[in-house]
Amino acid sequence: MYKKFIIAIDGPAGSGKSTTAKKVAESLHFLYIDTGAMYRAITYLAMTGNFLEDEAKIIGLAENVKIDLKFINGKTFLSADNVDISEEIRSIDVNNNVSQVSKISGVRKALVKKQQDLAVNNSGVVIEGRDVTTVVFPKADIKIFLTAGIKERAERRLKEYEEKNVHVSLDEIKNNIQERDRIDSTRADSPLTKAEDALEIDTSSITIDEQVDIILNKVKDFFN
Ligand code: DC
Repeated sequence: MYKKFIIAIDGPAGSGKSTTAKKVAESLHFLYIDTGAMYRAITYLAMTGNFLEDEAKIIGLAENVKIDLKFINGKTFLSADNVDISEEIRSIDVNNNVSQVSKISGVRKALVKKQQDLAVNNSGVVIEGRDVTTVVFPKADIKIFLTAGIKERAERRLKEYEEKNVHVSLDEIKNNIQERDRIDSTRADSPLTKAEDALEIDTSSITIDEQVDIILNKVKDFFN
């Protein structure tokens, strides 16, 4: 009998969700859905359109924009209304505004629908974000909550910026991560929280391959 298999991964910024989710998806040949990239796209478009303060306009944008997500050679590509903004959505300015935009219920409703629609035609999906185990796919087959200490998370982000030749201090990154965690975990609609039935993995002192193996082993257990 046909059955869809969904692996949902939530966790705070820098906990290793994206890297882990990508590797799991590659290894299982599943579709990978980076939900944070969608919230980043809406934020970027509201910033460049100069309407970051206009909630109604941001909701209208989230409802009507066509978002395409592709995953090629380990990288996420996102286009909005056929314009590629994959690099732009990772900027520090977007980091600083994305949590405010993500608080807006109308934006969440529109993006959750897009995320659920993306999964419709795929039998295997790995999805990651802040509410994917609780709201987007509360009945996912495997639910993971990744955590890590603030020091490790900030150092990981710093390394990513250094690799892109973007200069930013460790303190700036730490402050941004802590502020995003605060807003993401305390917002009224779909706050970041560990689902009761999610497996919590602290990634502070394990390698990416170990994180991936824990999840792949859970998939194996599922079918045994
Ligand atoms: O995973 P990320 O750092 O790219 O996510 C960017 C922001 O988007 C995050 O700080 C909060 C928001 N987000 C959300 O509210 N819900 C999700 N499912 C994914 C991300």
